[in-house]
Amino acid sequence: MDKTIAFNVNGQSRSVTTDPERSLLDVLREDFKLTGTKYGCGEGQCRACTVLLNGKAVPACLTPVSEAEKQTVLTIEGLAHGDTLHPVQQAFLEEGAFQCGYCTSGMIMGVVALLNEKPNPTDADIRSRMQRHLCRCCSYPRILKAIRQAVPQVQKTTAR
Ligand code: FES
Ligand code: FES
Repeated sequence: MDKTIAFNVNGQSRSVTTDPERSLLDVLREDFKLTGTKYGCGEGQCRACTVLLNGKAVPACLTPVSEAEKQTVLTIEGLAHGDTLHPVQQAFLEEGAFQCGYCTSGMIMGVVALLNEKPNPTDADIRSRMQRHLCRCCSYPRILKAIRQAVPQVQKTTAR
């Protein structure tokens, strides 16, 4: 049975009346037109669909929209401040850490979640966390470089 589910998305109160078991990914893309979050495998295996739920990375394809009720969701569309990209976005851009870009928004959200939890991650931390994110274009070396570049920039932003 459909239910009205209200939650905060990118700083705005949103609600949807739908099957509570429907995936958060489907609601974000189809109902809210937030298509920056990508559908890859639909099975929790690629993390192209990563969004932050209360600051933690989740695969939106496996997250029922009911789990977001009264919670806070951040998608790639909510990351920049006006015309200023988030430092992780900026680092990916400067390093050219993508080819087709399909994995990029999920990668960036995964890095933002990692830096929320560990502001100064080691390479081992980065590799261990990011190994769940697949890039079919194999841009991994530049992605790792971008993450290393983003770390001090994010630290500067959070210290302000
Ligand atoms: S689409 Fe969600 S993990 Fe692949
Ligand atoms: S840049 Fe193409 S999948 Fe990662």
